[in-house]
Amino acid sequence: MPDEAPDYLVVNRAWWDERAPLHAGPGSTYDLDDFRRHPDRLHAIELAEVGDVAGKRLLHLQCHIGTDTLSWAGRGADVVGADFSAPALEVARGLARDLGLDDRARFVGSDVYRLPEVLDGAFDVVFASWGAIAWLPDVARWFRVAAHFIAPGGIVYLADGHPTTWIFDEYAATPADLRVTYPYFTTDAPLVYVGPDETGSYAVPDAATAHNATHEWVHPLGAIVQAAIDAGLVVEMLHEHQAVPWPVFPFLLRGDDGLYRMPDDAPSFPLAFSIRARKPAG
Ligand SMILES: C[S@@+](CC[C@H](N)C(=O)[O-])C[C@H]1O[C@@H](n2cnc3c(N)ncnc32)[C@H](O)[C@@H]1O
Repeated sequence: MPDEAPDYLVVNRAWWDERAPLHAGPGSTYDLDDFRRHPDRLHAIELAEVGDVAGKRLLHLQCHIGTDTLSWAGRGADVVGADFSAPALEVARGLARDLGLDDRARFVGSDVYRLPEVLDGAFDVVFASWGAIAWLPDVARWFRVAAHFIAPGGIVYLADGHPTTWIFDEYAATPADLRVTYPYFTTDAPLVYVGPDETGSYAVPDAATAHNATHEWVHPLGAIVQAAIDAGLVVEMLHEHQAVPWPVFPFLLRGDDGLYRMPDDAPSFPLAFSIRARKPAG
């Protein structure tokens, strides 16, 4: 008998399956017509911290519709993108064909925890970013999967929203309205987000959608670092950033670099983090 998927997978997959075609369609901030003309969506943060990927094998976990995956391919990497959403991967494969990158970009469908059952191979870079780990109950298990795919001497790189931002009311209208609302430490049960304001998504906020619940977990920075160490990796970089690629709070201001920051007169706290950990060369 096949394993039954846990509730969170069913709920979150329905959310993403519905949104992937919307993200690829008109009015989405992913703007795929623009991407086909300028296929490079990586931010200064990950470009500086991952470094040159030319000639490297790169695995992108939770790759969504493949814009970042194909941006790495455009910079010379041989890439595999993995995601549990079939509609997202359909968009990614179409984009790869449109860009003539399908000889260097492959996409694999799987729950990330089960990826070692369906994908072989070793990679120089395992990459995930911006909205990757909140969907998962166990960050240590995520790092074990990432470490499984890393060749000796290769790196795991993760950039994501900072767990500190998670504790505050996400609808706060000004920095002074930030109210501690959610736990910082990982709960056994997921944080269930659902409500009248939860239709659409960060990329298509006005879209009418039917599947509007998500099951998410916050992962404290300490747990993330410990997960990398426990997976046998050597942490060589941990950065906290005052900028993040999406408006975590409505009052953040977008810069020309596509990153959102606190207004100048507001107190600072970290909006994003990035970690790079290496598998010892052996
Ligand atoms: C916010 S997106 C990734 C962000 C990416 N940087 C982007 O904007 O293109 C999160 C992705 O995680 C995928 N995802 C969520 N839970 C997953 C799981 N358990 N296994 C594999 N993929 C998952 C979703 O399908 C979605 O495509």
